Amino acid sequence: MKKVLMLDGSPRMESMSSTLGNWLVMSKHDKMEFYCYNAYKMNVSPCMGCGWCDKNVGCVFDDMDEFFADFEAADYLVITTPVYNGGVPAPLKAIVDRFQRYYALRFAHGVKPPVAKPKRAALVITAGSKGEGREYIEKMFTRQFTVLNTTLVTTVFVDSTDTKSVGFDEYHLAFEQGKKLFEY
Ligand SMILES: Cc1cc2nc3c(=O)[nH]c(=O)nc-3n(C[C@H](O)[C@H](O)[C@H](O)COP(=O)(O)O)c2cc1C
Repeated sequence: MKKVLMLDGSPRMESMSSTLGNWLVMSKHDKMEFYCYNAYKMNVSPCMGCGWCDKNVGCVFDDMDEFFADFEAADYLVITTPVYNGGVPAPLKAIVDRFQRYYALRFAHGVKPPVAKPKRAALVITAGSKGEGREYIEKMFTRQFTVLNTTLVTTVFVDSTDTKSVGFDEYHLAFEQGKKLFEY
């Protein structure tokens, strides 16, 4: 069975971004294995830039070991996030930075590719104002994905959530993008 890793960057229960993420994967709900994480619940140590991963394989911290095992095994990656101050919420950014171990694996240890299994990824981004955050967040992830053997297939971007409610049109959009991610 194919594996899907879902990473939710919102602190809110039933947030707009995670709800859209659920619509995106809905068609494969009972056909794939899902591994779901919330960045706030994970509460991981931020990268300290200590260089341990340049000299050793892995990370000096072990609080993401289970997550990284699920990440490496995944075929698909779905990251859902609100825009916070033009970027992603701090706990999600901490997780992004902790992927430095794969950068070190590639460039300090010469492992190519540092992540064996290729992955297809989708981003779901919600923003309170019009047009906010997408460009920066997409750039951050696509840049990182080049090292992670991961291809960004689609972004669902829903903005103006401060003034408009998220409804059927947006859920439909997310569902349709799921077809692109899962290629059916
Ligand atoms: C701390 C904080 C910072 C925010 N910063 C921005 C921002 O820079 N630009 C923006 O458009 N919306 C911003 N928002 C609004 C959220 O992006 C918006 O409400 C989003 O739809 C929430 O998604 P969620 O329900 O998935 O958490 C911010 C909200 C919070 C709480």
